[in-house]
Amino acid sequence: MTGDQAPRDWIEWHRAYADANSALTRRLAIVQAQVARVLEQRGDAPTRVLSMCSGEGRDLLEPIARLGVGDRVRGRLVELDPTLAGRARDGIAAAGLTGLEVREGDAGITSAYVGAAPADLVLACGVFGNISDDDIRRTVGALPALCAEGATVIWTRHRRPPDLTPAIRRWFRAAGFRHEGFIRVPDSPSSVGVERFTGISEPLPAAVRLFEFVEP
Ligand SMILES: C[S@@+](CC[C@H](N)C(=O)[O-])C[C@H]1O[C@@H](n2cnc3c(N)ncnc32)[C@H](O)[C@@H]1O
Repeated sequence: MTGDQAPRDWIEWHRAYADANSALTRRLAIVQAQVARVLEQRGDAPTRVLSMCSGEGRDLLEPIARLGVGDRVRGRLVELDPTLAGRARDGIAAAGLTGLEVREGDAGITSAYVGAAPADLVLACGVFGNISDDDIRRTVGALPALCAEGATVIWTRHRRPPDLTPAIRRWFRAAGFRHEGFIRVPDSPSSVGVERFTGISEPLPAAVRLFEFVEP
């Protein structure tokens, strides 16, 4: 947090998902399509998933339920806010996704991922627009410890000037990822990036700070 601003109300932020015409709903549809694509590509293979700052987990839970692949998906959603973590748990229970758990805690520290990394699909959605450039770079650099070989990372970031997305793509490349896609959300500065990990998975460092949310 910076200055004397009130912390952002993330529950209020999630209300935009109730509006079918919101930019956030359009972004969600793009992320969900990418999640579904990854799940379909994996066929019958078991899939380990991780979602950093998952919120309600709509991007992950809805495609898994829709495709009926919950029996072969395991993993963890990490969310700090107790209400949103509770909603994610409710979504998991309603869809019968017994392989998924919600860790109510700080996704900005590597210990949040102990026992759930490496994963085949990692979501960093709604994260890179809320942390410093240095923290984005550090987090991208740490993803080889969260990713299994061949894993896909789906990330989001706005393109407001100065557009950081080209730099983020470079940082992914330097960390051992091949760029797979970059989708601009129509009529919005938001975008969705898709990267494929082509490197060797690294050990997860214990309790290393990757990022902290900053207020806009
Ligand atoms: C922009 S929202 C994104 C939510 C979700 N990933 C999505 O795209 O719909 C950011 C989320 O991060 C959560 N959050 C903020 N700081 C966090 C932290 N240090 N660890 C885990 N979650 C955090 C907020 O509560 C909020 O749900």
